[in-house]
Amino acid sequence: MSFLQVYPGGLEDFHPGGRQELLEIAEAFRTYGVHDGTHSASREDLSGGPLALPVSMVAPAVLLEHAPWVADWYRGPLLKYARAFMGRLVVASEDPRNFPLVNVHEQGVRYEAHVDSNQPVGLELLAGDCSPQNGGALAISNRGDVPDLGALLANCVRHYPRVGEVAIMDGYRRTHAVEPLLVGERVMMVYNFWTEQAPESMRLAGLAEYDQGKRPSSQ
Ligand SMILES: [Fe+2]
Repeated sequence: MSFLQVYPGGLEDFHPGGRQELLEIAEAFRTYGVHDGTHSASREDLSGGPLALPVSMVAPAVLLEHAPWVADWYRGPLLKYARAFMGRLVVASEDPRNFPLVNVHEQGVRYEAHVDSNQPVGLELLAGDCSPQNGGALAISNRGDVPDLGALLANCVRHYPRVGEVAIMDGYRRTHAVEPLLVGERVMMVYNFWTEQAPESMRLAGLAEYDQGKRPSSQ
């Protein structure tokens, strides 16, 4: 599929023991919030009122403080994957607020349908046994930007991430969501990259706050 590519070799090859280190950081420092589906990047049916999807994550600043080596992995091998996927003009974030983060999807909880405000995005599973039986798929629209979860699931591809691989995807103007993992937690590293079409300076206002489940001061 042209909008997602899987690359073998994850952070454990770059920094042995790093996966366990990050899981311990996630356990100790994750913060909790709620996505209500009202952000301009959300693609949810709000006809029944706002959503209340629990989210939990480790913010980039916290991750960098406790695992500074992640920045070298991100700006080194990860950037090479991103450029292999989308060309040599891809750049890593300059703003530490857009640096790598960890999302924890609790058992049975989906992640809202949305479009990305940047491209490409790297995804690396740290824990969670995603499969057609267990769930946990990243569902990506075959039709680009569609308005809600129903429209997404009506015509999508499902990617089941695996520990030890990195997926690079283009979710810019393409609706995607994470289906609930039925057994255990799904712990995912997220790496933002940027192109000329969607430079870092254009990142949607308030999205870093929304990612954390906080209501942004403006959007
Ligand atoms: Fe996304």
